[in-house]
Amino acid sequence: MNERKGEILKKIKTVTSVPASALRAIKLLNDPNVNMGEVVQVIAYDPGLTSNILKLANSSYFGCARSISSLRDAVVRLGSANIFKLVTASIASLVLNKNIKGYNMTSGELWEHSIAVAVAAETSSYVLKLQDASKTAFTSGLLHDIGKVILGDFFDPQVEQEISVSLSKNKSFYEAEKEAFGINHAELGARLLNSWSIPDNLSNAVRWHHAPEFCRDSQCSTIVHFCDYICIKNKIGSQTEPLNMRLSEQAVAVLKISDKDNDEIIMRTRDSFENIKDIFSKPK
Ligand SMILES: [Fe+2]
Ligand SMILES: [Fe+2]
Repeated sequence: MNERKGEILKKIKTVTSVPASALRAIKLLNDPNVNMGEVVQVIAYDPGLTSNILKLANSSYFGCARSISSLRDAVVRLGSANIFKLVTASIASLVLNKNIKGYNMTSGELWEHSIAVAVAAETSSYVLKLQDASKTAFTSGLLHDIGKVILGDFFDPQVEQEISVSLSKNKSFYEAEKEAFGINHAELGARLLNSWSIPDNLSNAVRWHHAPEFCRDSQCSTIVHFCDYICIKNKIGSQTEPLNMRLSEQAVAVLKISDKDNDEIIMRTRDSFENIKDIFSKPK
């Protein structure tokens, strides 16, 4: 194994800012026969998670018509699929909302980009009427670049030199990472999510978001791939364009996106992004 890769994989265990109660809630919510009373008990144990869920449940993006003031109410009214989305969003806000070394991203930049791709992915699944993908699109989009949180710490002048050589040979940044580290941020992100018991359909979408043509169940990874591209190109959420960024035309063709669909996705994503981006906790 590439020596750097061994060190990087060890780091997965050290992402400690995730509350144990959130991970426990995810495990419970993965069970089709979940007891929602137990989920409430687990979440209620963590005041930060509880207040984030209530904030999100009352936001115009997730919200119901009436305001929700108790956790039990939120869980009953929103249902297990939405609560899963809110718990993962709450974890993501803690992990992604910080300076990311190596990618030159300041505090909040990766977070904003992740929110933009989450909203775009969910919007695309509705506009394109992709029922299966609609269940996982938001969370896959939100978590797609989570591997950068770990990988960013491993950039040094030697790595940067190797990456710039790969880029000069017209490799994408994603391929250059793989050459330098033996693993790229997409694969690393998927491994991190597996360690948190995030279901495989979600971690696979993250794993293949730069190469969706290689994903067996490719619909969600293709949507995330497409939305990553359109958010960056249309400057929705802050993210400087990675060098040698490419859209896999072959993968995206399967989604049959018309020009009208494309315009609608961009317009609706811009609106929803503005509604949702400020409702999570800011970094301390
Ligand atoms: Fe990425
Ligand atoms: Fe991205």
